[in-house]
Amino acid sequence: MFSLANKPFLGIDIGSYSVKLALLKIGSRGSVELLNFGMISLPPDTIVDGEVENPAAISAAIKNLLKSEKIPNNVKYCAFCVSGQSVIIKKITVPLMSSEDLSESIQQEAEQYIPFDIDEVNVDFQIVKAEGEIPQKGQKPVDSDDRQMEVLLVAAKKDVVFEQAEIIRNAGLKPAVVDLDVLSLENGFEVAYGVAEDDTVALVNIGGTFTNVNIVENGVTAYTRDIPVGGANITETIQKNMGVGFRDAEMMKLGHVEDEASREDLIPHIKSGALEITEELKKTFDMFSRTSDSRVRRIYICGGSSSLEGIDYIIGSELGLTCEILNPFRNMKLGKNFDPEYLEKIAPMAVAAVGLAIRRFEDK
Ligand SMILES: Nc1ncnc2c1ncn2[C@@H]1O[C@H](COP(=O)(O)OP(=O)(O)OP(=O)(O)O)[C@@H](O)[C@H]1O
Ligand SMILES: [Mg+2]
Repeated sequence: MFSLANKPFLGIDIGSYSVKLALLKIGSRGSVELLNFGMISLPPDTIVDGEVENPAAISAAIKNLLKSEKIPNNVKYCAFCVSGQSVIIKKITVPLMSSEDLSESIQQEAEQYIPFDIDEVNVDFQIVKAEGEIPQKGQKPVDSDDRQMEVLLVAAKKDVVFEQAEIIRNAGLKPAVVDLDVLSLENGFEVAYGVAEDDTVALVNIGGTFTNVNIVENGVTAYTRDIPVGGANITETIQKNMGVGFRDAEMMKLGHVEDEASREDLIPHIKSGALEITEELKKTFDMFSRTSDSRVRRIYICGGSSSLEGIDYIIGSELGLTCEILNPFRNMKLGKNFDPEYLEKIAPMAVAAVGLAIRRFEDK
């Protein structure tokens, strides 16, 4: 098969606040080196409530980013992600069978679970848990025909995938792999922390307009949810309560305040935003434990809003769990041109882009 395995490959994460780009190099013994990471802000209203309003602005931003990061002209292939209303992730139960056999029947199987016309979506799956050994292609389970397995069914609307791919093509790149942003978190996590066997961890990406939650059980995504709350809600609260414009409210939130007193004024707004997200996380974890015999043991937060001062403490203490900030660069070799202090600051925003950049090493 035509393989992209040895081509340089970019991970491009298009968010409502900014576009992030990652380029990695994998050593022969599996070591990972960070060659590039960069981000560029998008003008407000480019993506609103998950809908792209201004595709040309995103293509232009990607072009600028490729230039400012000095990405060589021969680096063209990339992985990108889709999210929001256009994707569906659902855990379903199917008879125990090989991956190859399920590949052939998944489209038909998916029809009953998907509220769109099946011809309008791309369908994929991941086996979560199986009752016994997975049989070989074309074979039935050895001891019983009624054995089942849990599968994560993933569907993305073709028109949305096409729209994102077109944005990337217009920036001069070649889109080669598509993922869901909530799933790319798992790959970004594993690059840094390895596969969490015998453990259940929640990866929580607190971005601008969305908080993506991916609960990983024994190294496999077991439950996901996209919560429509993020840092922009906190900026809006500051805007309303302090009587300033969105831009000023954003600057204040990022710590650009004149004095200590103004800083103190912001704390209740940041805290109430963090508590709102925590409340949604609690509901999500409760829903997960109702559908599983496991429960979340640890939380890793990432995304721009995980840098809000004290948010890790609030989430951890409210939910009674360890909560730490996810650093996808943790185990990577870093070139001399990276400023470690800067990298540590922006690391939580890089998780999805890193998870996308690593995708080419899979055979799917
Ligand atoms: N240092 C910081 N402190 C607090 N908030 C920050 C900081 N840096 C960025 N943010 C906030 O993080 C959010 C952007 O995060 P991120 O870049 O992960 O979002 P995105 O991926 O572009 O958006 P989406 O939610 O559409 O995926 C914004 O609300 C921004 O205000
Ligand atoms: Mg994002």
